[in-house]
Amino acid sequence: MSISIKNPEEIELMKEAGRILAITHEELKKAIKPGITTYDIDKLGEEVIRSYGCTPSFLNYCGYPASICVSINEEVVHGIPSRTRHIKEGDIVSLDAGVIYKGYHSDSARTYGVGEISPVCTDLIKVTKQSFFEALKVARAGNHIKDIGVAVERYVLQHGFDVVVDLVGHGVGKNLHEEPDVPNFATRRRGPKLKAGMTIAIEPMVTVGDYHVNWLDDGWTVVTADGLAAAHYENTILITESEPVILSRAEGLEL
Ligand code: MF3
Ligand code: CO
Repeated sequence: MSISIKNPEEIELMKEAGRILAITHEELKKAIKPGITTYDIDKLGEEVIRSYGCTPSFLNYCGYPASICVSINEEVVHGIPSRTRHIKEGDIVSLDAGVIYKGYHSDSARTYGVGEISPVCTDLIKVTKQSFFEALKVARAGNHIKDIGVAVERYVLQHGFDVVVDLVGHGVGKNLHEEPDVPNFATRRRGPKLKAGMTIAIEPMVTVGDYHVNWLDDGWTVVTADGLAAAHYENTILITESEPVILSRAEGLEL
């Protein structure tokens, strides 16, 4: 298989998927309050996605049982929503979501602090988000996949945090996960050359402590091995000859 180049019609569909995804995140952000269960977050997310006639990308994907991945504190990604898991003051909560609109996916993630959080977690969330924007600066035609990983990793390490290496970003389009892999760290090989029309999800996963992770027995939840907090930030973007375009956004809403 090779890396798909999207035509203008496909890009329009991915923009619409991304707009609805951004609206979904906005609604979820408002709902993140102490006491809410991760199950309620999932149900709200699914409801918003379906209210636009869309389908949640993650539901039943490789057997994943929910629409929104909710990962708290030392959980890095792919936390499974539960009726008995309540968000509490001081938590940091990562929400990962995907939307299918007319056969095209958009994928994005955000991490929020609940009420008052520790200074280190505040910094972690900020650095994770900014590491995505550092990658964005080099995400253009002519550069290579490796340039993205180098940019993320350099920024994160400079700020005293670490980057998870067991999970990577990815191409996205007709499928949630397409070629190429998009590592958040420097690889030996430079990887594929970026070309206009490629659509990729850049998704740094950043840890306060060591970067090693484990999988819980539920088969999904990824946690830090040292139990320290992690954050996740992701957008679906379009590569062009000049500035990349963030597809998972809606006008007037915060990124
Ligand atoms: N954004 C996530 C990723 O790219 C998608 C979660 S896959 C699911 O890895 F199966 F958990 F839904
Ligand atoms: Co993704």
